[in-house]
Amino acid sequence: MPLTLADVREKLNTWKGIDLTKTSNPVPGEGNPKAEIVFIGEAPGQREDELKRPFVGQAGKLLDELLGTINLKREDVYITNVVKFRPPDNRDPTPEEKAACLPFLQMEIALIKPKVLVPLGRHALTQFFTKMSISDAHGKAHTIAGATIFPIYHPAAALHNPGLRQALFDDFKSLGEFLKKK
Ligand code: URA
Repeated sequence: MPLTLADVREKLNTWKGIDLTKTSNPVPGEGNPKAEIVFIGEAPGQREDELKRPFVGQAGKLLDELLGTINLKREDVYITNVVKFRPPDNRDPTPEEKAACLPFLQMEIALIKPKVLVPLGRHALTQFFTKMSISDAHGKAHTIAGATIFPIYHPAAALHNPGLRQALFDDFKSLGEFLKKK
């Protein structure tokens, strides 16, 4: 039987590949299995860990608002993270944690086959382009191995640095225009 997103979730629930599995809950991706866009965050925070759902805290609220500006709802897209477990005190995920969780992201992408992948912030961006900085890459489409990658600042960055808020809204506007042409 072919692998499904439910199988990927199931695998994640029993996986013990990194120490974060001892201190936090698995947070699988969620959304439309036929989504044309997949948003990829960094790692779950406290609220995400509690509810076992991605982007349900403050950054998630802003993401919902941004989606609304291009007439999309959460149900239309698929939202996931590079690292599927919460790092303690919301520290940055380590390269080892990112590498260990990458097969889950790869399975999600292979099953959904979206038209566009949207890394949110530098941790997701460097899964595709190891040397690009988010400040150079954001707000425009890039191509790698036939995939279209449209990086955007992480919504949490705009919560900490209000100067980035306008850039985030501008990037979503560009994403909306790009999708219309796709
Ligand atoms: N930040 C992320 O990168 N992912 C979440 O799920 C929530 C906040």
